[in-house]
Amino acid sequence: MSPADSESAYFNNYPPPKALPKHESLARSFIEYHVESNRRVVLVTSGGTTVPLENQTVRFIDNFSAGTRGATSAEYFLQQGYAVIFLHRQFSLLPYSRHYSHSTNCFLDFMDEASPSDVSNSDHGHIVVRNEYQDEMRDVLRKYRYAKQNNLLLLLPFTTVSEYLFELRMLAKCMNPLGPNALFYLAAAVSDFFIPRDRMAEHKIQSSEIPKEFRSPEEAVGADDIYTGGFEQKQESSKKLVVNLDPVPKFLHQLVNGWSPEGSMIVSFKLETDPNLLVYKAQTALERYAHHLVIGNLLSTRKWEVVFVTPNPPHERWIRVPKSRRSKSISGVEDQVGKAEAAKRSLGEQTSAAPAEEPTKEEDTGYIATREGTEIESLIIPELVKLHTGMIEKFKR
Ligand code: PMT
Repeated sequence: MSPADSESAYFNNYPPPKALPKHESLARSFIEYHVESNRRVVLVTSGGTTVPLENQTVRFIDNFSAGTRGATSAEYFLQQGYAVIFLHRQFSLLPYSRHYSHSTNCFLDFMDEASPSDVSNSDHGHIVVRNEYQDEMRDVLRKYRYAKQNNLLLLLPFTTVSEYLFELRMLAKCMNPLGPNALFYLAAAVSDFFIPRDRMAEHKIQSSEIPKEFRSPEEAVGADDIYTGGFEQKQESSKKLVVNLDPVPKFLHQLVNGWSPEGSMIVSFKLETDPNLLVYKAQTALERYAHHLVIGNLLSTRKWEVVFVTPNPPHERWIRVPKSRRSKSISGVEDQVGKAEAAKRSLGEQTSAAPAEEPTKEEDTGYIATREGTEIESLIIPELVKLHTGMIEKFKR
């Protein structure tokens, strides 16, 4: 099947999300507003998509992504003067509020009750931000309000993989008037497998046998012949669920060759867990979709290092947070930093990779240190903006 055929097969199989018309009208006016001021607009996708197991969904497959990369990157794009469409998994991290929404950074820990000043209500003090957090919170609040007051940030949520794909297609088409001022930054962890609608159970999958008289006659897929590949009878009262998933068509191809504006820049991410595979997989994605940049990252080191894989020299470029500035990460494994780059070299491949450099004194001032250390997105986004500027200039010539 050609990419265009699998596109129509996929979209014809699903009803569009209910929120799509509302999101489209919000996106159109947001984009129109920024086209008029010739501002660059980036679409940041963020968080994981779910794969429902039932049409009336009780259970679904999900992935690890919390939306940290997307939400953090959105802030640095805003800092660089971009307007941001933030297409995110509902309830994942959001720009600015992310600083206070982790379970380890509960906003309540930043607050205090001041001594009551009003004698008539002596047990009610004003709620205030604790002294030690005043400067940091003021800074975040100012940036957040600036983005809101200047209509620079549009938040659009999705949950399932099909909602994500409908939204992505709609937004890419709406972004057409932006031409080269459009940038796609696809950091979402999109499910690679799904259950086609015609194989999906309508109701909650039962773990035990239901008498025939309780099964609804209109249900397209009955409990006995559910898409899952079949239940294996284990004991009399329980069943083993075997899930049988189809691959989601890769829509990057359609994005690059159809939906996106002419001259726009498309950046995708590649996540791997095996250091030996990372660069290879990122290069393969770049060759397959012929877009502009793949940012490769390993699950265990994604907060400290990424690799830019580009069609033009240096082809492979590592960006790393210097050791002394690395944030602590519960899921991260610091020993793995440098492993993917070393793996590439040990294969004896000719590489024109630019080794990751320690920052010079001047660059040093550009580093943004949070309580938790330097955020790698503060290094990624300025580099990306330089590449985007180069593309815009080339397009104009
Ligand atoms: O949110 P965090 O916890 O901070 O984690 C961030 C991250 C690790 C999820 C992020 O940095 C990242 O790597 N995201 C991409 C994950 C990935 O490997 O995606 P993929 O290989 O399935 O897809 C590659 C690209 O193709 C993606 O940019 C995706 O948007 C796109 N895609 C994917 C599936 C699909 N059917 N169509 C697509 O176009």
